[in-house]
Amino acid sequence: MKIIETNSYEELSRIAADLVGAQVILKPDCVLGLATGSTPIGLYDNLIARCKDGTLDFSAVRSVNLDEYCGLDGSNDQSYRYFMDTHLFNHVNIDKENTHVPSGLAADLAAEGEQYDAMIRELGGIDIQVLGIGLDGHIGFNEPDDHFTGPTHEVELDPSTIEANARFFASIDDVPRSAITMGMASIMQARKILLLASGANKKEIMDKALFGPITPQVPASLLQIHPDVTVICCYK
Ligand code: F6R
Repeated sequence: MKIIETNSYEELSRIAADLVGAQVILKPDCVLGLATGSTPIGLYDNLIARCKDGTLDFSAVRSVNLDEYCGLDGSNDQSYRYFMDTHLFNHVNIDKENTHVPSGLAADLAAEGEQYDAMIRELGGIDIQVLGIGLDGHIGFNEPDDHFTGPTHEVELDPSTIEANARFFASIDDVPRSAITMGMASIMQARKILLLASGANKKEIMDKALFGPITPQVPASLLQIHPDVTVICCYK
């Protein structure tokens, strides 16, 4: 595991864009695993700037997102599909047909999960997976539990996650109670992982995840056994 601690969020975002950008240059039809949330917004801004100045070409890139709320369609401004469109896809030359977000509207979410993992396998697997981390150690929507999760699946959101995400909704009652997320097995199969953490409030859980025992009570701790993880963090 390589850990890069930066002095600012801007530096974190620039280095993250260097790594993701290098992946796109090395393999123009790579599969990017993407995350939502506040942390990767600076990364996406950098990727947009580099596409606009001609440094990066997304025309052959494929993408898969980690997760989506249940019950929100892509036109809902709180859906993760909407987030990805507005923060990245609408501003780079990626073919939207090549961008994938699990559907939280599927009638059969178990089947949707199986199809999503099969689709990732058909794409050839994820070349680099971008991750943020929740204050409870979740990655994707894999919440603390008594076992590590496997494939893409439906989850009930933890009260602390509902509370943390309420800032994006009109009221906490509007936050969906469940989501569909890539499981820990789906995430761990990515060839490379880029974990981003920003803010003083992330330091405690990051110390647990990176240096504490590997336990499903801190889902991100499983990353300790992945062979190719880069962590970029800024605790200021
Ligand atoms: C987002 C996701 C979540 C976030 C995490 C951190 O797709 O899967 O695990 O990465 O909740 O969110 P922020 O970056 O808002 O602190």
